[in-house]
Amino acid sequence: MASCGGLVSTVLWAIFLIQVIETSHSKASTNVTCIGAEREALLKFKLGLTDPWRRLKSWTREECCEWEGVECNKKTGHVLKLDLHNPCIELDQIDGILIPSYKCMLGGNIVPSLIELEYLKYLDLSANCFSTQKIPMFFASLQKLEYLNLSYSCFDGHIPRQLNNLSKLQYLDLSGDGPWYLTSDNLGWVSKLSSLKYLHMSSVNLSKAKDWFGSINMLSSLQSLELSNCGLQDVPSSLQANFTSLRFLDIGSNNINSYIPQWIYNLSKLEHIDLSSNSLNGGCFPMAIIDNNQRLAFFDASGNSLEGEFPKNMSSLCKLQVVQLSYNSLNGNISVIFGPLGCRQSKWKIFDVYGNLFSGDLPNQFGDFKELELLDFSLNSFSGSIPANLGELTSLRGLYLQYNKLTGTIPESIGRLLNLKELQLQNNFLYGVVSELHFENLKSLTSLDFSSNELILNVSSTWVPPFQVRMLDLSDCKVGPNFPKWLQTHRNITMLRMSNASISDGIPDWLHNIFPNIAVLDISTNMLRGQVPQDIGDKMPQLRELILEDNNLTGGIPSSLCKLNELYEIRLSKNQLSGKLPRCWGASQAFGYLLFGDNKLNGQIPKSLCHVWSLFGLSLQKNRFVGGIPPQYCQLKHLQFLSLAQNSISGPIPNCFDEMTYLVNGTWIDLFDFVVEVMVNGRKTYQVYEVNVMVNTKGTSQIYGFTLESFCSIDLSANMLDGQIPKEFPKLIRLQNLNLSRNKLSGYIPSNIGDLKNLESLDLSRNKLSGTIPPSISSVDFLSHLNLSFNRR
Ligand SMILES: *[C@@H]1O[C@H](CO)[C@@H](O)[C@H](O)[C@H]1NC(C)=O
Ligand SMILES: *[C@@H]1O[C@H](CO)[C@@H](O)[C@H](O)[C@H]1NC(C)=O
Ligand SMILES: *[C@@H]1O[C@H](CO)[C@@H](O)[C@H](O)[C@H]1NC(C)=O
Ligand SMILES: *[C@@H]1O[C@H](CO)[C@@H](O)[C@H](O)[C@H]1NC(C)=O
Ligand SMILES: *[C@@H]1O[C@H](CO)[C@@H](O)[C@H](O)[C@H]1NC(C)=O
Ligand SMILES: *[C@@H]1O[C@H](CO)[C@@H](O)[C@H](O)[C@H]1NC(C)=O
Ligand SMILES: *[C@@H]1O[C@H](CO)[C@@H](O)[C@H](O)[C@H]1NC(C)=O
Ligand SMILES: *[C@@H]1O[C@H](CO)[C@@H](O)[C@H](O)[C@H]1NC(C)=O
Ligand SMILES: *[C@@H]1O[C@H](CO)[C@@H](O)[C@H](O)[C@H]1NC(C)=O
Ligand SMILES: *[C@@H]1O[C@H](CO)[C@@H](O)[C@H](O)[C@H]1NC(C)=O
Ligand SMILES: *[C@@H]1O[C@H](CO)[C@@H](O)[C@H](O)[C@H]1NC(C)=O
Ligand SMILES: *[C@@H]1O[C@H](CO)[C@@H](O)[C@H](O)[C@H]1NC(C)=O
Repeated sequence: MASCGGLVSTVLWAIFLIQVIETSHSKASTNVTCIGAEREALLKFKLGLTDPWRRLKSWTREECCEWEGVECNKKTGHVLKLDLHNPCIELDQIDGILIPSYKCMLGGNIVPSLIELEYLKYLDLSANCFSTQKIPMFFASLQKLEYLNLSYSCFDGHIPRQLNNLSKLQYLDLSGDGPWYLTSDNLGWVSKLSSLKYLHMSSVNLSKAKDWFGSINMLSSLQSLELSNCGLQDVPSSLQANFTSLRFLDIGSNNINSYIPQWIYNLSKLEHIDLSSNSLNGGCFPMAIIDNNQRLAFFDASGNSLEGEFPKNMSSLCKLQVVQLSYNSLNGNISVIFGPLGCRQSKWKIFDVYGNLFSGDLPNQFGDFKELELLDFSLNSFSGSIPANLGELTSLRGLYLQYNKLTGTIPESIGRLLNLKELQLQNNFLYGVVSELHFENLKSLTSLDFSSNELILNVSSTWVPPFQVRMLDLSDCKVGPNFPKWLQTHRNITMLRMSNASISDGIPDWLHNIFPNIAVLDISTNMLRGQVPQDIGDKMPQLRELILEDNNLTGGIPSSLCKLNELYEIRLSKNQLSGKLPRCWGASQAFGYLLFGDNKLNGQIPKSLCHVWSLFGLSLQKNRFVGGIPPQYCQLKHLQFLSLAQNSISGPIPNCFDEMTYLVNGTWIDLFDFVVEVMVNGRKTYQVYEVNVMVNTKGTSQIYGFTLESFCSIDLSANMLDGQIPKEFPKLIRLQNLNLSRNKLSGYIPSNIGDLKNLESLDLSRNKLSGTIPPSISSVDFLSHLNLSFNRR
């Protein structure tokens, strides 16, 4: 019996629905017409609504029981069901999840005429957007309601506690997505809904509902409880759960900072458990939860603080399909996790443990895991080689082994994973020659990352990455000396990284002509010669990141780059570029970083750069710039890294740097998730690169393969600046590095220089400063480098 619990429940659910609706689908055989008063009520209700998509166009006919969304009792003619949920959904382009679409939305007011529908059992208004702000109190009069779905419908404010009147309610869905709109400070009203089976209130603000558990614990028929992102904090640990029939539990994305509550261990019918993104810690892995729930199919405890070893016998749970444990502190050796099965065939589909502390060998017994689609072992400390047996996982779509300590060669058996879409092997110690054998059959592969290993791509062989690849990272592989010819046939690439790939070629004419969709082009740290193509901005209109630093490029910086409104980052430092910077920068650009240091650029630094409001980092150091620092640069409110060092810049330092508010008091703004367009099953979608910045002491931060100077720093050293140190400088309290050395600055060091509390390095040496060292400097806690030498004092 236990083994077919899922089916039983589906059947029960179907029977239930039939009871609720008691409706006739064979409308032709019924002659019952709707009740006049109810028809009137519906028409009044319609008058309050706006319906730009004409979903209610059938609401004119005499027989209201045949109107769109309306169903009646076939004997009495009373309206039983009103289902006006928005049927249109679309793929959210950022999160890749399905969301209600504006298309088909109803709006307007919900007028109380609905009270007339005295026999209404089922009301679904979900995924519309009514301008009625609050949930109408009169819903509480719909005494016969068994199903009420107001999810994703733009309601906000407090949930009326009068809903406690709905004693027949079995389904209540008030969920939202994202930010909190609805609030309930006390779930006392819920405790009266004694028939409730489904309670879904995700993204309802329950942060003040201290006794939420006590209230919900009165619902002994509860089968499904969704309270994710509700601001829940206090979860009583000792209490017993009353709702022992619970099958679906989601309390993810709350602030639950405790041991896994005891009552969860007592629920034995759970099929779905989501505890993700809390701060749960439970010492060792909560195997008892899993052991008690032989029907468990989904277990997500990612983003918590679980510690200790992983249970070895998890694979004995025959119903399990999804195991997500990423971002915890689990450790030990899981080489036998795919061990003996308790059943003939495993149902595991997703096994995801990235970001833990696992070590030892990867598992290598996969034969019984034929349904596994996603296997993520990344960001651990696995060593040894990639097991050849992985080739047995024929359903695999995503294989993520990056950021481990794997050695050896890439097994040829990977070439048998015919459904593979994403393969990420970067940042390991893999070596050897990548032969064509691996990939000729991988017709679904769209993303391939081999970077930061010691792999060699044998360009003299016919190795070609699969045609359909969109994202390709071959950084630190030996690709060169020439650009591989196959690039010419891979026109759909959106991300190409070949940093440090031993390429000593000119940028070929064809390169910028063949990637109309490219968003990220990184060919840094090679020996590229020749010029950056002048029309690059015209030919690669989607470019977001252009990284050609650390090569031997010559010529000027193309002014066509100014046309790229999507461009976020240009890194051309450490080349032989010459000429003037383009002067065409404008406010429509959203650059974060412009790094042009270590070249032979000359002329004045263009004022127009001040329009690039979003600039975080600007580096023009070690060039041949002349003229003054345009005071307009003070408008760069987000600037946190500015280096103009080692040029021939003269004149005073503008005394308005305190207008750079980020350095004064700013908070991090989230321009950091950048998005790359990809095609999934022929549909355009977007891949979000979440950029996790980990700043190190050198002032650079490693961001999955590229570095950013996110250090708060101003370096104007080794120029010909004169005048005084502006009095405003000490207001830049976020500054970690200030270097004004080797200029001709005179006057005093500002007496409040000690206000720069975050300063780690201060160099004012080799100027013409006079006076004494301000005593306040001793109050800077982190100062590890101080140089005031060679001044007049
Ligand atoms: C119902 O309608 C059908 C045809 O539409 C008719 O033959 C039948 O007599 C009607 N029954 C009643 C009770 O009116
Ligand atoms: C409520 O409506 C939403 C959107 O239409 C749907 O996804 C959800 O499953 C419904 N809830 C219940 C409990 O049926
Ligand atoms: C609650 O139900 C009672 C009848 O049981 C009814 O008289 C009352 O009006 C309802 N309250 C609200 C707020 O609708
Ligand atoms: C959540 O609700 C509480 C109490 O009603 C309120 O004080 C708080 O501001 C709300 N939080 C948000 C983010 O809306
Ligand atoms: C369990 O639910 C019943 C009502 O269904 C209630 O009387 C009882 O107090 C609840 N027990 C706990 C521990 O809350
Ligand atoms: C609940 O779990 C605890 C500990 O796991 C156990 O001692 C207790 O007997 C269980 N109670 C029920 C009713 O299953
Ligand atoms: C898994 O192992 C633990 C401890 O060895 C044991 O208590 C538990 O019953 C096992 N679970 C299954 C499903 O075999
Ligand atoms: C990991 O466990 C397996 C099986 O218990 C054992 O064979 C292997 O040596 C272990 N590896 C390490 C590094 O401890
Ligand atoms: C590269 O491929 C060519 C042709 O297939 C082969 O002759 C050569 O040995 C390969 N080089 C390496 C290093 O494997
Ligand atoms: C590139 O994408 C287009 C549109 O999705 C597709 O028709 C074409 O086959 C793709 N080309 C390659 C080489 O994958
Ligand atoms: C860089 O290019 C110049 C000529 O443009 C050449 O003289 C120089 O040798 C190159 N540098 C290296 C390291 O190849
Ligand atoms: C930062 O400072 C500016 C100017 O002093 C002020 O207008 C702004 O409100 C401050 N912002 C914050 C977040 O404190």
